[in-house]
Amino acid sequence: MFMVIKDLCKSYQAGEIETVALRNASITLNKGEIGVILGPSGSGKSTLMNIIGGIDTADRGSVIVDNQEITKFDDNRLTEYRREKIGFVFQSYNLIPHLTVSENIEVIESISKDPLPLSDVLAAVGLTDKKNRFPRELSGGEQQRVAIARAVIKNPHLLLCDEITGALDYASAIDALDLIQEVSNRFGTTVLIITHNTAISKIANRVYKLRSGEVVDCIVNENPSDARKVEW
Ligand SMILES: Nc1ncnc2c1ncn2[C@@H]1O[C@H](COP(=O)(O)OP(=O)(O)OP(=O)(O)O)[C@@H](O)[C@H]1O
Ligand SMILES: [Mg+2]
Repeated sequence: MFMVIKDLCKSYQAGEIETVALRNASITLNKGEIGVILGPSGSGKSTLMNIIGGIDTADRGSVIVDNQEITKFDDNRLTEYRREKIGFVFQSYNLIPHLTVSENIEVIESISKDPLPLSDVLAAVGLTDKKNRFPRELSGGEQQRVAIARAVIKNPHLLLCDEITGALDYASAIDALDLIQEVSNRFGTTVLIITHNTAISKIANRVYKLRSGEVVDCIVNENPSDARKVEW
């Protein structure tokens, strides 16, 4: 198993009030698989993803990625792990407005150990002809593709996508999912997609359903759909 998450617990304390975000959550993924975490708002999806990505820490339980137990890492090793292994794509694109498409991607390329060729990544996301544009000159779907390109350029072992289709229209959402599926096939990238859209789970090898911080169901999908065939 490439990723093994076992009995993860996380609570947030705000004054007197404690919110339990994760209750003994356990999930696994093989190398090159696409996993979908499905759950309503507040069910702990982002918390789970942030802990897997090393930008938040768990109270209890373990996260093992590529044979490394990251829940035992100190801050320095977590920074290195995030930088070398993890690609993040968020719903908000977080592009740098005064840099072009190419330059936005190059920022990440420059701090990566073993980046993919920029021209390959631009071609993969279909933005070769728009590489010199600024973010404001792109549609929302195109900006999301730049955000995906930026996560992919470092050739991450694990690509984490948090609600990346939520702000997109249907056609752009399918494009983004198709792109992620293509990246996973082409580069063997393991992908975790977080969503509340049930239809998206059709492209996954494994689907985990989260309710109030608890994994209530796990479905192994022997024949994941092509993203182009998903409808909602
Ligand atoms: N930094 C924080 N401080 C306090 N509470 C938090 C914090 N982050 C998350 N929570 C709480 O933990 C619970 C899980 O939040 P989380 O963001 O993981 O949900 P989610 O499934 O990603 O929801 P959404 O679909 O709305 O993004 C919620 O009740 C939320 O209010
Ligand atoms: Mg969230």
